[in-house]
Amino acid sequence: MLVNDGVWEFETDRLSVGPWHAVADRLDIDLARVVAEMLTVRTTVALPESWRGDHSVETAWGWIADRDADSSMLLVAESTSHHPVGLLVLAEVPLSSSGVDLRIGYLFAESGWGQGLASELVSGLIEWARAQPAIRTLTGGADPANRASVRVLEKCGFSLIDDPDPGVVVYQFELSDSRSGAQDN
Ligand SMILES: CC(C)(COP(=O)(O)OP(=O)(O)OC[C@H]1O[C@@H](n2cnc3c(N)ncnc32)[C@H](O)[C@@H]1OP(=O)(O)O)[C@@H](O)C(=O)NCCC(=O)NCCS
Repeated sequence: MLVNDGVWEFETDRLSVGPWHAVADRLDIDLARVVAEMLTVRTTVALPESWRGDHSVETAWGWIADRDADSSMLLVAESTSHHPVGLLVLAEVPLSSSGVDLRIGYLFAESGWGQGLASELVSGLIEWARAQPAIRTLTGGADPANRASVRVLEKCGFSLIDDPDPGVVVYQFELSDSRSGAQDN
């Protein structure tokens, strides 16, 4: 199943979000350079092994190909300057009942931390998802030591649902109860 025919695109007050290759082409940005600059030891220390930096522009292309094979990757740009500031990773997991759970992950360049951008991004994603009848839940996992990431999920209304091992806490946002105006099908 492809949510919204695989078209992932939304805006928030400060951010413009869309498929990374399309956005990079539109803004004439070298995606490998963006990845090499964003994925540093510091920004990836709390992330799964496959995300750990540092990357050069050359190794970034291989990483981009790997991500294209396993997820939907969105580039987050600052709306007015068009400057790339973050990445949003999404994966659709079909539910046994019907619809999908949307697994989410995000990373911002260190220069953008502490300005409320991640909270704004996740809130914007929730608003976008409300208009997608197939999406039932959004789920995000984090290292419990990654307080900023846990805080982003809590601020955006996610609830703790699972604590599978000491290195991960899993948070979920239920759309069904909070959706207004969207039709289920
Ligand atoms: C996690 C990350 C996305 C947060 O981005 P951000 O734009 O700085 O987040 P925001 O500014 O929206 O909000 C962060 C919240 O966490 C809080 N926070 C930040 N660092 C914190 C810390 N060490 N302990 C507790 N809270 C912290 C902030 O105060 C803020 O909460 P508040 O608004 O109640 O004050 C960013 O640090 C990042 O990209 N980290 C590397 C990648 C990563 O860890 N991604 C998450 C994978 S699960």
